[in-house]
Amino acid sequence: MKDIRLDFEHFKDQGQLPNLAEVRDKVEKYHRVLLEGKDAVIKDREVPMTGWKTESPFISDEDLDTITAAAKGLRQKIDDYISIGIGGSYLGIKASIEALVGPLDLINLEKGNIPRIFFLGNHMDPSYTDAVLKLTKGRKVGVCVISKSGGTVEPAIAFAVAKGSANTIIAITDENKGALHDLAKKEKYETFPVPDNVGGRYSVTSPVGLFGMAVAGIDIKEFIAGARYAEEQTRKNKFDKNIAMLRAAMRFIAYDKWDKKIEVASTGIFDLKGVTYWMQQLGPETEGKDGKGLWISPEFYTQDAHANGQMIQQGERNMIETFLMLEDVETDITISARGTPVEYLDGKTMSFVNRAFVEGLRDAHFEGGVPCMSYNIPELSANTLGQLYQYEMNAIALGGLLLGLNPFVQPGVQMYKDIANKKSGGK
Ligand code: PA5
Repeated sequence: MKDIRLDFEHFKDQGQLPNLAEVRDKVEKYHRVLLEGKDAVIKDREVPMTGWKTESPFISDEDLDTITAAAKGLRQKIDDYISIGIGGSYLGIKASIEALVGPLDLINLEKGNIPRIFFLGNHMDPSYTDAVLKLTKGRKVGVCVISKSGGTVEPAIAFAVAKGSANTIIAITDENKGALHDLAKKEKYETFPVPDNVGGRYSVTSPVGLFGMAVAGIDIKEFIAGARYAEEQTRKNKFDKNIAMLRAAMRFIAYDKWDKKIEVASTGIFDLKGVTYWMQQLGPETEGKDGKGLWISPEFYTQDAHANGQMIQQGERNMIETFLMLEDVETDITISARGTPVEYLDGKTMSFVNRAFVEGLRDAHFEGGVPCMSYNIPELSANTLGQLYQYEMNAIALGGLLLGLNPFVQPGVQMYKDIANKKSGGK
Protein backbone atom coordinates (compact mmCIF):
# COMPACT_ATOMS: atom_id res chain seq x y z
CA MET A 1 0.00 0.00 0.00
CA LYS A 2 1.31 3.43 -0.95
CA ASP A 3 0.53 6.25 1.46
CA ILE A 4 -0.69 9.72 0.62
CA ARG A 5 1.29 12.39 2.44
CA LEU A 6 0.58 15.99 3.35
CA ASP A 7 3.41 18.42 2.67
CA PHE A 8 3.08 21.76 4.48
CA GLU A 9 6.61 23.05 4.26
CA HIS A 10 5.28 26.07 2.33
CA PHE A 11 2.37 26.75 4.65
CA LYS A 12 3.58 30.02 6.12
CA ASP A 13 2.12 33.50 6.35
CA GLN A 14 4.63 36.36 6.27
CA GLY A 15 7.36 33.90 7.15
CA GLN A 16 5.45 32.50 10.14
CA LEU A 17 4.36 28.91 10.55
CA PRO A 18 0.85 28.38 11.95
CA ASN A 19 0.73 27.95 15.71
CA LEU A 20 -0.75 24.46 15.57
CA ALA A 21 -0.47 23.86 19.31
CA GLU A 22 -3.13 26.53 19.78
CA VAL A 23 -5.85 24.45 18.14
CA ARG A 24 -4.63 20.94 18.86
CA ASP A 25 -6.96 20.29 21.80
CA LYS A 26 -9.98 21.57 19.93
CA VAL A 27 -9.24 19.45 16.86
CA GLU A 28 -8.81 16.33 18.99
CA LYS A 29 -11.99 17.11 20.89
CA TYR A 30 -14.00 17.55 17.68
CA HIS A 31 -12.57 14.32 16.33
CA ARG A 32 -13.98 12.56 19.38
CA VAL A 33 -17.32 14.30 18.75
CA LEU A 34 -17.36 12.85 15.22
CA LEU A 35 -16.57 9.37 16.47
CA GLU A 36 -19.00 9.38 19.37
CA GLY A 37 -21.92 10.73 17.36
CA LYS A 38 -23.80 12.15 20.35
CA ASP A 39 -23.49 15.92 20.03
CA ALA A 40 -26.37 17.89 18.48
CA VAL A 41 -23.86 19.81 16.33
CA ILE A 42 -23.35 16.79 14.06
CA LYS A 43 -27.00 15.80 13.72
CA ASP A 44 -29.47 16.45 10.94
CA ARG A 45 -32.80 16.24 12.68
CA GLU A 46 -32.03 13.41 15.12
CA VAL A 47 -29.47 11.51 13.00
CA PRO A 48 -25.70 11.88 13.61
CA MET A 49 -24.43 12.36 10.04
CA THR A 50 -21.18 10.50 10.51
CA GLY A 51 -21.85 7.24 8.64
CA TRP A 52 -19.13 8.26 6.13
CA LYS A 53 -16.65 7.90 9.03
CA THR A 54 -18.06 5.13 11.17
CA GLU A 55 -19.65 2.87 8.53
CA SER A 56 -18.86 3.51 4.84
CA PRO A 57 -15.12 2.68 5.10
CA PHE A 58 -16.04 -0.54 6.94
CA ILE A 59 -18.65 -1.83 4.47
CA SER A 60 -18.46 -5.64 4.26
CA ASP A 61 -16.86 -7.54 1.38
CA GLU A 62 -20.21 -9.20 0.86
CA ASP A 63 -21.94 -5.85 0.26
CA LEU A 64 -19.14 -4.76 -2.04
CA ASP A 65 -19.51 -8.03 -4.00
CA THR A 66 -23.25 -7.39 -4.38
CA ILE A 67 -22.62 -3.91 -5.80
CA THR A 68 -19.85 -5.17 -8.10
CA ALA A 69 -21.98 -8.04 -9.40
CA ALA A 70 -24.98 -5.77 -10.10
CA ALA A 71 -22.74 -3.24 -11.85
CA LYS A 72 -21.05 -5.94 -13.90
CA GLY A 73 -24.40 -7.44 -14.90
CA LEU A 74 -25.58 -4.02 -16.03
CA ARG A 75 -22.32 -3.23 -17.84
CA GLN A 76 -22.65 -6.40 -19.89
CA LYS A 77 -26.10 -5.57 -21.17
CA ILE A 78 -25.82 -1.89 -22.03
CA ASP A 79 -23.99 0.33 -24.51
CA ASP A 80 -24.50 3.57 -22.61
CA TYR A 81 -24.83 4.48 -18.94
CA ILE A 82 -26.56 7.68 -17.84
CA SER A 83 -25.93 8.68 -14.24
CA ILE A 84 -28.48 11.22 -13.02
CA GLY A 85 -27.89 13.37 -9.94
CA ILE A 86 -26.62 16.70 -8.63
CA GLY A 87 -24.22 17.86 -5.91
CA GLY A 88 -23.12 14.91 -3.81
CA SER A 89 -25.15 12.60 -6.01
CA TYR A 90 -22.97 13.56 -8.98
CA LEU A 91 -19.56 15.11 -8.30
CA GLY A 92 -17.78 12.25 -6.52
CA ILE A 93 -18.88 9.68 -9.09
CA LYS A 94 -17.64 11.75 -12.02
CA ALA A 95 -14.43 12.72 -10.22
CA SER A 96 -13.64 9.09 -9.40
CA ILE A 97 -14.34 7.72 -12.87
CA GLU A 98 -12.29 10.47 -14.48
CA ALA A 99 -9.42 9.99 -12.02
CA LEU A 100 -9.24 6.23 -12.43
CA VAL A 101 -10.54 5.51 -15.93
CA GLY A 102 -9.98 8.75 -17.81
CA PRO A 103 -11.70 11.95 -18.96
CA LEU A 104 -15.18 11.10 -20.21
CA ASP A 105 -15.01 13.16 -23.37
CA LEU A 106 -12.10 10.94 -24.44
CA ILE A 107 -13.06 7.55 -23.03
CA ASN A 108 -16.54 7.82 -24.50
CA LEU A 109 -14.87 7.92 -27.93
CA GLU A 110 -13.05 4.64 -27.33
CA LYS A 111 -14.62 1.29 -28.00
CA GLY A 112 -13.53 -0.17 -24.69
CA ASN A 113 -15.11 -2.77 -22.46
CA ILE A 114 -17.15 -0.30 -20.44
CA PRO A 115 -20.27 1.53 -21.59
CA ARG A 116 -20.12 5.14 -22.65
CA ILE A 117 -20.87 7.23 -19.57
CA PHE A 118 -22.96 10.40 -19.45
CA PHE A 119 -24.12 12.60 -16.59
CA LEU A 120 -27.47 14.38 -16.49
CA GLY A 121 -29.51 16.05 -13.79
CA ASN A 122 -26.71 18.32 -12.56
CA HIS A 123 -28.24 21.22 -14.54
CA MET A 124 -31.35 21.91 -16.62
CA ASP A 125 -29.84 22.92 -19.90
CA PRO A 126 -32.14 21.44 -22.58
CA SER A 127 -29.57 21.58 -25.34
CA TYR A 128 -27.02 19.38 -23.49
CA THR A 129 -29.76 17.04 -22.30
CA ASP A 130 -31.14 16.70 -25.82
CA ALA A 131 -27.66 15.99 -27.18
CA VAL A 132 -27.18 13.12 -24.72
CA LEU A 133 -30.63 11.70 -25.50
CA LYS A 134 -29.88 11.85 -29.25
CA LEU A 135 -26.46 10.25 -28.82
CA THR A 136 -27.91 7.35 -26.84
CA LYS A 137 -31.05 6.86 -28.96
CA GLY A 138 -31.48 3.35 -30.36
CA ARG A 139 -28.73 1.96 -28.11
CA LYS A 140 -29.04 -0.15 -24.99
CA VAL A 141 -29.17 2.36 -22.15
CA GLY A 142 -28.84 1.93 -18.40
CA VAL A 143 -30.13 4.84 -16.35
CA CYS A 144 -29.09 5.24 -12.73
CA VAL A 145 -31.02 7.94 -10.90
CA ILE A 146 -29.48 9.09 -7.63
CA SER A 147 -31.18 11.35 -5.11
CA LYS A 148 -31.09 10.93 -1.36
CA SER A 149 -34.12 13.14 -0.78
CA GLY A 150 -35.80 11.87 -3.93
CA GLY A 151 -37.28 15.31 -4.50
CA THR A 152 -34.49 17.39 -6.05
CA VAL A 153 -35.91 18.99 -9.17
CA GLU A 154 -32.90 18.88 -11.54
CA PRO A 155 -32.39 15.08 -11.38
CA ALA A 156 -36.15 14.51 -11.26
CA ILE A 157 -36.55 16.35 -14.58
CA ALA A 158 -33.60 14.55 -16.16
CA PHE A 159 -35.04 11.22 -15.04
CA ALA A 160 -38.48 12.14 -16.37
CA VAL A 161 -37.06 12.85 -19.83
CA ALA A 162 -34.47 10.03 -19.93
CA LYS A 163 -36.37 7.11 -18.48
CA GLY A 164 -38.30 6.44 -21.69
CA SER A 165 -35.09 5.51 -23.47
CA ALA A 166 -33.78 3.27 -20.66
CA ASN A 167 -33.57 -0.50 -20.97
CA THR A 168 -32.65 -0.81 -17.33
CA ILE A 169 -33.26 1.59 -14.45
CA ILE A 170 -31.47 1.63 -11.12
CA ALA A 171 -32.40 3.99 -8.30
CA ILE A 172 -30.07 5.00 -5.47
CA THR A 173 -32.07 6.74 -2.79
CA ASP A 174 -33.26 6.68 0.81
CA GLU A 175 -34.13 3.18 1.97
CA ASN A 176 -37.48 4.09 3.51
CA LYS A 177 -38.87 7.39 2.28
CA GLY A 178 -39.10 9.98 -0.49
CA ALA A 179 -40.72 10.29 -3.91
CA LEU A 180 -37.95 8.37 -5.68
CA HIS A 181 -38.10 5.59 -3.10
CA ASP A 182 -41.87 5.28 -3.65
CA LEU A 183 -41.53 5.33 -7.43
CA ALA A 184 -38.74 2.73 -7.38
CA LYS A 185 -40.85 0.48 -5.21
CA LYS A 186 -43.90 0.85 -7.45
CA GLU A 187 -41.94 0.29 -10.68
CA LYS A 188 -39.74 -2.41 -9.09
CA TYR A 189 -36.46 -0.77 -10.05
CA GLU A 190 -33.31 -2.32 -8.67
CA THR A 191 -32.24 -0.08 -5.79
CA PHE A 192 -29.26 0.68 -3.59
CA PRO A 193 -29.57 2.72 -0.41
CA VAL A 194 -28.12 6.11 0.45
CA PRO A 195 -27.48 5.54 4.16
CA ASP A 196 -29.60 7.71 6.43
CA ASN A 197 -26.51 8.94 8.28
CA VAL A 198 -24.55 9.99 5.20
CA GLY A 199 -25.11 13.38 3.54
CA GLY A 200 -24.70 13.97 -0.20
CA ARG A 201 -21.22 15.52 -0.17
CA TYR A 202 -19.95 12.77 2.14
CA SER A 203 -21.45 9.94 0.06
CA VAL A 204 -18.69 9.08 -2.41
CA THR A 205 -17.65 6.03 -0.34
CA SER A 206 -21.29 4.84 -0.02
CA PRO A 207 -23.32 3.07 -2.76
CA VAL A 208 -23.79 6.53 -4.33
CA GLY A 209 -20.15 6.56 -5.42
CA LEU A 210 -19.51 2.84 -5.44
CA PHE A 211 -22.14 1.76 -7.96
CA GLY A 212 -21.07 4.18 -10.73
CA MET A 213 -17.42 3.37 -10.10
CA ALA A 214 -18.14 -0.36 -10.37
CA VAL A 215 -20.03 0.19 -13.65
CA ALA A 216 -16.86 1.87 -14.93
CA GLY A 217 -14.87 -1.24 -13.93
CA ILE A 218 -13.13 0.31 -10.91
CA ASP A 219 -12.03 -2.05 -8.15
CA ILE A 220 -14.26 -0.79 -5.34
CA LYS A 221 -12.69 -3.14 -2.79
CA GLU A 222 -9.34 -1.44 -3.31
CA PHE A 223 -11.05 1.96 -3.15
CA ILE A 224 -12.69 1.11 0.16
CA ALA A 225 -9.44 -0.42 1.45
CA GLY A 226 -7.81 3.00 0.86
CA ALA A 227 -10.66 4.85 2.60
CA ARG A 228 -10.53 2.42 5.54
CA TYR A 229 -6.76 2.80 5.83
CA ALA A 230 -7.05 6.61 5.91
CA GLU A 231 -9.83 6.39 8.48
CA GLU A 232 -7.72 4.11 10.68
CA GLN A 233 -4.74 6.47 10.37
CA THR A 234 -6.97 9.41 11.33
CA ARG A 235 -8.15 7.58 14.44
CA LYS A 236 -4.77 6.25 15.48
CA ASN A 237 -2.13 8.87 14.62
CA LYS A 238 -1.09 11.57 17.03
CA PHE A 239 -2.00 15.14 16.02
CA ASP A 240 1.43 16.02 14.61
CA LYS A 241 1.38 12.97 12.30
CA ASN A 242 -2.32 13.16 11.49
CA ILE A 243 -3.04 14.32 7.93
CA ALA A 244 -6.72 15.15 8.47
CA MET A 245 -6.17 16.91 11.82
CA LEU A 246 -3.18 18.93 10.62
CA ARG A 247 -5.00 20.00 7.49
CA ALA A 248 -8.09 21.01 9.49
CA ALA A 249 -5.94 22.98 11.94
CA MET A 250 -4.00 24.79 9.19
CA ARG A 251 -7.10 25.74 7.20
CA PHE A 252 -8.74 27.03 10.37
CA ILE A 253 -5.73 29.10 11.45
CA ALA A 254 -5.45 30.54 7.95
CA TYR A 255 -9.11 31.61 8.11
CA ASP A 256 -9.30 32.71 11.70
CA LYS A 257 -5.86 34.18 12.40
CA TRP A 258 -4.40 35.01 9.00
CA ASP A 259 -7.64 36.39 7.57
CA LYS A 260 -7.59 34.14 4.50
CA LYS A 261 -10.95 33.78 2.75
CA ILE A 262 -10.19 31.58 -0.24
CA GLU A 263 -8.64 28.17 -0.66
CA VAL A 264 -7.37 27.52 -4.15
CA ALA A 265 -7.56 23.76 -4.92
CA SER A 266 -5.08 23.11 -7.71
CA THR A 267 -3.69 20.32 -9.81
CA GLY A 268 -1.67 19.88 -12.96
CA ILE A 269 -3.10 16.39 -13.50
CA PHE A 270 -5.96 16.41 -15.99
CA ASP A 271 -7.53 13.30 -14.45
CA LEU A 272 -7.66 14.98 -11.01
CA LYS A 273 -9.57 18.05 -12.17
CA GLY A 274 -12.84 16.43 -11.10
CA VAL A 275 -11.47 15.86 -7.58
CA THR A 276 -10.88 19.62 -7.24
CA TYR A 277 -14.55 20.16 -8.20
CA TRP A 278 -15.54 17.60 -5.57
CA MET A 279 -13.47 19.64 -3.07
CA GLN A 280 -15.29 22.77 -4.25
CA GLN A 281 -18.55 21.23 -3.05
CA LEU A 282 -17.31 19.51 0.10
CA GLY A 283 -15.74 22.62 1.64
CA PRO A 284 -18.25 25.40 0.96
CA GLU A 285 -21.39 23.32 1.56
CA THR A 286 -19.87 22.23 4.87
CA GLU A 287 -18.44 25.56 6.03
CA GLY A 288 -20.40 28.30 4.29
CA LYS A 289 -22.81 29.17 7.10
CA ASP A 290 -23.32 32.00 9.62
CA GLY A 291 -21.24 34.36 7.45
CA LYS A 292 -18.18 32.08 7.74
CA GLY A 293 -16.05 29.66 5.74
CA LEU A 294 -13.35 29.37 3.11
CA TRP A 295 -14.41 29.79 -0.52
CA ILE A 296 -12.86 27.04 -2.68
CA SER A 297 -11.59 27.84 -6.12
CA PRO A 298 -10.52 24.86 -8.29
CA GLU A 299 -7.64 25.60 -10.65
CA PHE A 300 -6.22 23.38 -13.38
CA TYR A 301 -2.60 24.13 -14.22
CA THR A 302 -1.04 25.31 -16.23
CA GLN A 303 -4.25 26.32 -18.06
CA ASP A 304 -5.43 28.58 -15.23
CA ALA A 305 -1.97 29.98 -14.57
CA HIS A 306 -2.85 32.12 -17.59
CA ALA A 307 -6.04 33.38 -15.92
CA ASN A 308 -6.65 33.25 -12.15
CA GLY A 309 -2.90 32.66 -11.81
CA GLN A 310 -2.32 36.41 -12.04
CA MET A 311 -4.70 37.01 -9.13
CA ILE A 312 -3.18 34.20 -7.07
CA GLN A 313 0.29 35.64 -7.64
CA GLN A 314 -0.39 39.32 -7.09
CA GLY A 315 -4.02 39.98 -6.19
CA GLU A 316 -5.47 40.44 -2.73
CA ARG A 317 -3.49 38.34 -0.22
CA ASN A 318 -6.59 36.60 1.09
CA MET A 319 -5.93 33.04 -0.06
CA ILE A 320 -4.21 29.77 0.70
CA GLU A 321 -3.56 27.05 -1.85
CA THR A 322 -3.75 23.26 -1.70
CA PHE A 323 -2.13 21.26 -4.48
CA LEU A 324 -2.95 17.71 -5.56
CA MET A 325 0.49 16.49 -6.66
CA LEU A 326 0.93 13.13 -8.37
CA GLU A 327 4.32 11.51 -7.90
CA ASP A 328 4.18 8.62 -10.37
CA VAL A 329 2.34 9.03 -13.66
CA GLU A 330 1.19 5.97 -15.57
CA THR A 331 1.54 7.35 -19.08
CA ASP A 332 4.32 9.60 -20.25
CA ILE A 333 5.62 11.13 -23.45
CA THR A 334 9.23 11.81 -24.29
CA ILE A 335 9.56 15.16 -26.03
CA SER A 336 11.36 15.18 -29.40
CA ALA A 337 12.09 18.86 -29.67
CA ARG A 338 15.09 19.29 -31.97
CA GLY A 339 14.69 22.40 -34.11
CA THR A 340 11.73 23.70 -32.10
CA PRO A 341 11.56 26.65 -29.68
CA VAL A 342 11.81 24.18 -26.78
CA GLU A 343 14.92 22.36 -28.02
CA TYR A 344 16.36 22.55 -24.49
CA LEU A 345 13.67 20.03 -23.47
CA ASP A 346 14.61 17.46 -26.11
CA GLY A 347 14.62 14.01 -24.54
CA LYS A 348 12.82 15.13 -21.37
CA THR A 349 9.42 13.70 -20.47
CA MET A 350 6.22 15.75 -20.41
CA SER A 351 5.58 14.66 -16.83
CA PHE A 352 8.97 16.05 -15.80
CA VAL A 353 8.18 19.43 -17.33
CA ASN A 354 4.60 19.41 -15.99
CA ARG A 355 5.83 18.75 -12.48
CA ALA A 356 8.54 21.39 -12.76
CA PHE A 357 5.93 23.95 -13.83
CA VAL A 358 3.41 23.07 -11.12
CA GLU A 359 6.15 23.08 -8.47
CA GLY A 360 7.31 26.36 -9.97
CA LEU A 361 3.80 27.77 -9.62
CA ARG A 362 3.67 26.63 -6.01
CA ASP A 363 7.05 28.24 -5.23
CA ALA A 364 6.08 31.46 -7.03
CA HIS A 365 2.71 31.65 -5.25
CA PHE A 366 4.42 31.00 -1.92
CA GLU A 367 6.93 33.78 -2.61
CA GLY A 368 4.00 35.99 -3.58
CA GLY A 369 2.48 35.49 -0.11
CA VAL A 370 0.18 32.47 -0.53
CA PRO A 371 0.57 29.78 2.16
CA CYS A 372 0.64 26.47 0.23
CA MET A 373 0.22 22.84 1.18
CA SER A 374 0.12 19.72 -0.99
CA TYR A 375 -1.39 16.30 -0.89
CA ASN A 376 1.39 14.15 -2.34
CA ILE A 377 -0.26 11.20 -4.09
CA PRO A 378 2.25 8.43 -4.83
CA GLU A 379 0.23 6.96 -7.72
CA LEU A 380 -3.30 7.37 -9.02
CA SER A 381 -5.09 4.18 -7.95
CA ALA A 382 -8.42 3.19 -6.44
CA ASN A 383 -6.61 2.82 -3.12
CA THR A 384 -4.97 6.26 -3.07
CA LEU A 385 -8.19 7.93 -4.24
CA GLY A 386 -10.07 6.27 -1.36
CA GLN A 387 -7.40 7.56 1.03
CA LEU A 388 -7.59 11.08 -0.37
CA TYR A 389 -11.38 11.30 -0.03
CA GLN A 390 -11.38 9.95 3.52
CA TYR A 391 -8.65 12.33 4.71
CA GLU A 392 -10.36 15.25 3.05
CA MET A 393 -13.84 14.43 4.44
CA ASN A 394 -12.33 14.24 7.92
CA ALA A 395 -10.39 17.49 7.49
CA ILE A 396 -13.42 19.39 6.19
CA ALA A 397 -15.86 18.02 8.77
CA LEU A 398 -13.38 19.02 11.49
CA GLY A 399 -13.07 22.42 9.79
CA GLY A 400 -16.82 22.99 10.06
CA LEU A 401 -16.76 22.07 13.75
CA LEU A 402 -13.79 24.37 14.40
CA LEU A 403 -15.87 27.21 12.95
CA GLY A 404 -18.61 26.35 15.45
CA LEU A 405 -20.97 25.04 12.73
CA ASN A 406 -22.89 21.88 12.00
CA PRO A 407 -20.89 20.54 9.02
CA PHE A 408 -23.67 18.25 7.84
CA VAL A 409 -26.61 20.52 7.09
CA GLN A 410 -27.05 22.88 4.14
CA PRO A 411 -29.96 25.20 4.94
CA GLY A 412 -28.76 27.69 2.30
CA VAL A 413 -29.11 25.08 -0.46
CA GLN A 414 -32.58 24.26 0.83
CA MET A 415 -33.44 27.98 0.71
CA TYR A 416 -32.48 28.23 -2.96
CA LYS A 417 -34.39 25.02 -3.73
CA ASP A 418 -37.56 26.42 -2.09
CA ILE A 419 -37.43 29.81 -3.81
CA ALA A 420 -36.59 28.37 -7.24
CA ASN A 421 -39.25 25.66 -6.91
CA LYS A 422 -41.90 28.31 -6.24
CA LYS A 423 -40.72 30.41 -9.17
CA SER A 424 -41.11 27.45 -11.52
CA GLY A 425 -44.64 26.73 -10.30
CA GLY A 426 -43.83 24.04 -7.73
CA LYS A 427 -44.56 23.92 -4.02
O1 PA5 B 1 -24.26 17.57 -0.09
C1 PA5 B 1 -25.47 17.65 -0.20
O2 PA5 B 1 -26.24 17.26 0.70
C2 PA5 B 1 -26.12 18.20 -1.45
O3 PA5 B 1 -25.19 18.72 -2.34
C3 PA5 B 1 -26.92 17.11 -2.16
O4 PA5 B 1 -26.06 16.07 -2.53
C4 PA5 B 1 -27.64 17.66 -3.38
O5 PA5 B 1 -28.46 18.77 -3.04
C5 PA5 B 1 -28.52 16.57 -4.02
O6 PA5 B 1 -29.46 16.11 -3.10
P1 PA5 B 1 -30.27 14.77 -3.34
O7 PA5 B 1 -29.33 13.62 -3.39
O8 PA5 B 1 -31.21 14.70 -2.20
O9 PA5 B 1 -31.00 14.94 -4.67
